[in-house]
Amino acid sequence: MTEGVVYEVNDGIAVLRVDNPPVNALSPHVRLALNELIRKADEDPAIRGVVLTGTGKVFVAGADIKLINMPRTGPTIGDFLAHVEGMRKPVVAAVQGTALGGGFEIALGCHARVALAGNRVGLPEATLGLIPGAGGTQRLPRLVGAAVALEMIVSGRHLEVEEALRLGAVDAVVEDDLLGHAFAWVDRLLARSLLPRARDRQPSGDMTDIEAARTAFDCKAAELGTNGTAATQAAIAAVADSFDRDFDEALAREIEAFTRLRTSPVAQARIHAFLAERAARHVPGVKSDTPRRPVDTVAVIGAGTMGAGIAITLANAGYAVCVVDAAVESLDAARTRINTTYGDLVGRGRMSAGAAETARARLRWFSDLAEGVAEADLVIEAVYEDMDLKKRIFAELSRLAPDHAILASNTSYQDIDALARETARPERVVGMHYFSPANVMKLLEVVRGAATSPQTLASVLDIARRTGKIPVVVGVCYGFVGNRMLWQRTVQTQKLLLEGCSPREIDTVLTNFGFRMGPCQMQDLAGIDVAWRLRKARGERMEPVDTIADAGRWGQKTGKGYYLYPEGVRTGVDDPELLEIVAGVAGRLKVPRRRVGGEEIRKRLLFPLINEGFRIVEEGMVERPGDIDVVYLHGYGWPRDKGGPMHHAETYGLKRLADDLDRMAETLGEEELRPTRFLRELADTGGSLAEIDART
Ligand code: COA
Repeated sequence: MTEGVVYEVNDGIAVLRVDNPPVNALSPHVRLALNELIRKADEDPAIRGVVLTGTGKVFVAGADIKLINMPRTGPTIGDFLAHVEGMRKPVVAAVQGTALGGGFEIALGCHARVALAGNRVGLPEATLGLIPGAGGTQRLPRLVGAAVALEMIVSGRHLEVEEALRLGAVDAVVEDDLLGHAFAWVDRLLARSLLPRARDRQPSGDMTDIEAARTAFDCKAAELGTNGTAATQAAIAAVADSFDRDFDEALAREIEAFTRLRTSPVAQARIHAFLAERAARHVPGVKSDTPRRPVDTVAVIGAGTMGAGIAITLANAGYAVCVVDAAVESLDAARTRINTTYGDLVGRGRMSAGAAETARARLRWFSDLAEGVAEADLVIEAVYEDMDLKKRIFAELSRLAPDHAILASNTSYQDIDALARETARPERVVGMHYFSPANVMKLLEVVRGAATSPQTLASVLDIARRTGKIPVVVGVCYGFVGNRMLWQRTVQTQKLLLEGCSPREIDTVLTNFGFRMGPCQMQDLAGIDVAWRLRKARGERMEPVDTIADAGRWGQKTGKGYYLYPEGVRTGVDDPELLEIVAGVAGRLKVPRRRVGGEEIRKRLLFPLINEGFRIVEEGMVERPGDIDVVYLHGYGWPRDKGGPMHHAETYGLKRLADDLDRMAETLGEEELRPTRFLRELADTGGSLAEIDART
């Protein structure tokens, strides 16, 4: 065995089986082995053909993403395929599992492709800000046509092999005995005078397909107000090459484009996001063999917007859900809201009527807490943010819920340990912080209390994944990770308004950065009155937002907030009256007004937020900096092209960031804006967050 690839001979056919756990990525040793072994098979007169396959659920998952930043060494997949294409012996890909990126490109370069039913293939490089780099942009258009190839490459989507067969990307799909079928293909190809090679075919379609893609892309870019992604443009150019350039010249241009894109900030950010999402699944103390508590029935306490969203999420995933609320009118309202949501989903073709009905039938409604939680394996409390109320509920749940049941709170801020202390089962108390709307947003902050057991955590993480959420485990602190950091942005937004910025100026800076909406638009959507009410109850005030709320401007729901929302307009229209209100508050508070530039706005909105992220890492509230990026990518709309706040800090430069924060603290006279000890230390010692991520 050459490392990473097993070589076996079966009745004169060499089987090359890639075996590089976990996903058979094309690490340097695998590329080396493939190149050596194909030569060995070719040179051995006793071998009449080759079958190439993988091990386990994945055929080959493509380039080794963990090493993608390293300079390429040793023989490449391009070399391997060039050898295959020069061979007189047939080479057949036996695709036994998922074939992605370079994995699928290897298959495209073989003389035939046989796939086991139920698997997927695709070229997902675009999702990483890349294009295929092993001939995919040249061979795929020759097999499926330029239009289909472009769609596949630009979207990066994974296809069922059955669809790939229909399109011509694979030659056969078989239900069983894959190797037997692949051997038969070797013999069938031996009977031909010429071996079929994708490179010898003409791409079907013509330049109008390329022009159509370019136009569609330009329209989309115009609609988004961006120049689009470099990867999309490179993909279109590469597929265009398949028409008007020599095959080998086009291959050389493809790898050139791939190499150029690989070091681009967008690819670096997207690759970081991919790896951070996987790393966040590794939770200290939780292993694959940690025992889980079986959970079938979940009680959701509180039938507000959050409770209803959580109930839908759980019912869709097959859990029996008991929605509990003492107020019968709240239960009725939730039932109506849930019915409307399912109606919308069916209406928009997102769910079949049958599936919606089945999910709805899993919901039961209770006004009595004892009855509602009697059968629960998990209880999720989702009442409003009143700690005394939550404490009372947890004390009652401790008495009423079955002994084995896990008790979770959906609080956005409060102390999970204090809630655990109200119960006789602190090891089965945990935070499950959903984001609104809970049936749509992917992020779930799973809050690990001081006493939360690995078993509880493992069970909750399983439920999160089964319901399609992306869970990130965080520690107990006020606001946890996402909201604690966001608070810094809220504070700066308010200060910027008082200093003279309009909501539009503030929001535009962030939408230009890549967010779908800015802080003022977000508050208008969520409702300005929510935090205003909370502050009122505590006797606190924040300006100018509370004066804006005093004026009945609560956001979209009242038709005006930071912006005006005339009938049917959801994007918001600038309102001079709002500017007058803010100017009035600034005058009253004697805040000097000035013109603030875009760069200052961006730094003030983002850097204090990022600084708080460093504090969170320093306090050990997350396992690794990358976890914060996952929170922001999936819960706060941080643009994937920018990788997340911590990745952004690293790209910007930790030293520059720390110095900027020092300067900001001095010019604004706000000592709390100083870089945290941890940031300053990393900045001064040349440390890096990526190194910390890699260590965990
Ligand atoms: N290179 C290196 N490591 C990879 C990898 C790749 N191409 N693809 C996945 N991995 C790693 C993951 O980081 C994870 O590592 P960990 O166990 O240390 O956390 C492990 O393999 C399992 O991956 P995961 O995504 O959790 O497994 P899955 O079964 O859910 O999905 C795939 C498997 C192959 C569908 C999925 O991993 C995937 O889409 N990979 C990327 C494919 C790709 O984009 N290829 C083109 C590269 S240019």
